[in-house]
Amino acid sequence: MPTPADEAAPTRWRRQKQFTAAVHLQNAHMPAVSLTLPKDRELFAFIFARFIDGELTGIAEGRAMQYAPDLKSADFLARQIRDEIRHARLYKGLLAYVSPERPSPRQSWLLKQVTTPVSGRLWIEHCFLDKAVGERWVHYLMQMLIANTKDARIVKTLRAIARDEVTHIAFGEAQVKTSLAANRFMAAYLWGLYLRVDYALALVHRLTRALVRRRYSIEATELLDMFFRDYRELALQEVAGLLGVPPQRSIWRLLKSQIIYWARWPFVGWRQNPERAFRAS
Ligand SMILES: [Fe+2]
Ligand SMILES: [Fe+2]
Repeated sequence: MPTPADEAAPTRWRRQKQFTAAVHLQNAHMPAVSLTLPKDRELFAFIFARFIDGELTGIAEGRAMQYAPDLKSADFLARQIRDEIRHARLYKGLLAYVSPERPSPRQSWLLKQVTTPVSGRLWIEHCFLDKAVGERWVHYLMQMLIANTKDARIVKTLRAIARDEVTHIAFGEAQVKTSLAANRFMAAYLWGLYLRVDYALALVHRLTRALVRRRYSIEATELLDMFFRDYRELALQEVAGLLGVPPQRSIWRLLKSQIIYWARWPFVGWRQNPERAFRAS
């Protein structure tokens, strides 16, 4: 049954949600995974602590506001920052709920380096890497938790946050499509930047698998494998569809985009800002 937020979302995003549901159906052969309290207290605490880290990077969206193309985009960013701050508070509440007496589990330095978004100084890079891609991955993880958690409070909170994340992703996608219409070179360039994320996620899987197997349940390990295997493939298809490129992995493509990114980083994005656009309009 579609929610009001689903109805408000663009058709494309609804199609993607249906595709996500199809992936779940494909995984119907997998043993049912059921995360519960108190059994999975430690795993929930680890995940919610990482979600708090992620939501707080939303404050960094303020930097992107300086090179937003117009006041309307800056206004969306301002609302998004408020959303992310509210989400951080909600996750803090969930962390206290699942693990009231223990300190928040720390993130490893290496994991942080791999998962921290690096989105350059161009508005299009920000919208693509942080919103269309980064928030998409967060949303996948939330969907997986919602589908496999047996706890009303956790599921209800995750659903409420997920509704906001859908609007952030849809905004990023719309900005990417507008940019692609004006510059087809951009599709190949962004695909190379996406592959950086794709390979980094494969690395995160390798880094975390042994740790999760050692510290958490067999079910948690199964969920992690499902997340990195099935959702990595789903993301490859969806992002390639967004950009209109073949969903092929290529180290060469990744390196080319990365070299372009580094080479022009000091020079681009200085002239664009919402105040200038507002005064010129
Ligand atoms: Fe958020
Ligand atoms: Fe978000």
